[in-house]
Amino acid sequence: MCACFHVSQGLNFAPGGPFVLSPVVSSSEANPLSLQDQRFVLFSGKGGVGKTVISSAYALSCARRGERTLLMELNVKDKVSSFFGSSSVGSDIVEVEDNLFAVNVTPDAALEEYGLMILKVKLIYKAVFENRIISSFLRSIPGLNDLLMLGKAYFHATEVATDGSYVWDKVVVDAPATGHGLFFLQIPSVITGFISSGHMYEEAKRIQDLLQDPAKTALNLVTLPEEMPVNETLMMRDELQERMGLATTSIIANGVYPPLFSQEQYDWIDEARDAVAPDSELLGGFLDAASFRGQRVDLQNEYLERLENEVDLPLYYVPYHFTDRVTFPVISKIADQLAAQISGEQEPTALSAQ
Ligand SMILES: Nc1ncnc2c1ncn2[C@@H]1O[C@H](COP(=O)(O)OP(=O)(O)OP(=O)(O)O)[C@@H](O)[C@H]1O
Ligand SMILES: [Mg+2]
Repeated sequence: MCACFHVSQGLNFAPGGPFVLSPVVSSSEANPLSLQDQRFVLFSGKGGVGKTVISSAYALSCARRGERTLLMELNVKDKVSSFFGSSSVGSDIVEVEDNLFAVNVTPDAALEEYGLMILKVKLIYKAVFENRIISSFLRSIPGLNDLLMLGKAYFHATEVATDGSYVWDKVVVDAPATGHGLFFLQIPSVITGFISSGHMYEEAKRIQDLLQDPAKTALNLVTLPEEMPVNETLMMRDELQERMGLATTSIIANGVYPPLFSQEQYDWIDEARDAVAPDSELLGGFLDAASFRGQRVDLQNEYLERLENEVDLPLYYVPYHFTDRVTFPVISKIADQLAAQISGEQEPTALSAQ
């Protein structure tokens, strides 16, 4: 029997109709900043939940609003280029859409940029940083790679042009998954906890101050509506707050299955299954499939309800898009779906799952 209980906020199941999302849940009232206000926006979450998809779609929605946006992958196998149909994204910044630029930061490139900033001359940089002993010493410092990549993200988030204006309206970081993500975000506070002066302290303190400023930084967690990702999301939110004083800005439930039928229709399907199945293998199969889909939606809704009950933050929903490969049309659609919810439009936004 399909219970199909309804998630109270956010998802509004129109009988038999398309997937309808209420734009922003009431808990956003507790947090007056919406995801469109901050300059520095990071997405983390359990491995494989859709961080790169959501970061890319969110960055596209910002670019479409006219914001000059930089999307940063951090030393990963580049996926952003396949989403935007661009040439591969490496350690040089490239434009992948109007107003949207991307870079895949590597620690080596970040170190070189940083070294050049300090030493100014490439030959001196090469003499110092490419010295075998110095470079193997640098590689042995735990956390240095993360600090370099976070430092580069910080640099772009605060980068100003000669006329004093910010170079980027938005810097979006596809941050590492939960465990590594916590370590990554903790680096500045670990450094400021150990040393209390000097160049490294100043750098770490500036990054820490930016991360802890909710007017400038948005730290978002992406999850699937499943048990383990939801557990990790709640754990990460708590750890970020308790260990680092970092408040989570929002949670994005990704890969949400839209219901196909109303409760009434599911009841009918269950009754019809008992009556029809023995007589018709084909129709019985269809009814089984419909019932299975209802149970799948029920299960995910338990996890969505858990998020709604345990998280006093804006919660945004992104449907599962049935496709063999996520390419630009899907990213584009998710960008619109996120933008409609983040902008806080009062009218519910009807979203189809396809
Ligand atoms: N809303 C969605 N609908 C359909 N497919 C999706 C959706 N979101 C993500 N995917 C698919 O799920 C897979 C994982 O997505 P993605 O690479 O964004 O996850 P990730 O969290 O960045 O993973 P990793 O931890 O490995 O970096 C991809 O194959 C992507 O195509
Ligand atoms: Mg990823």
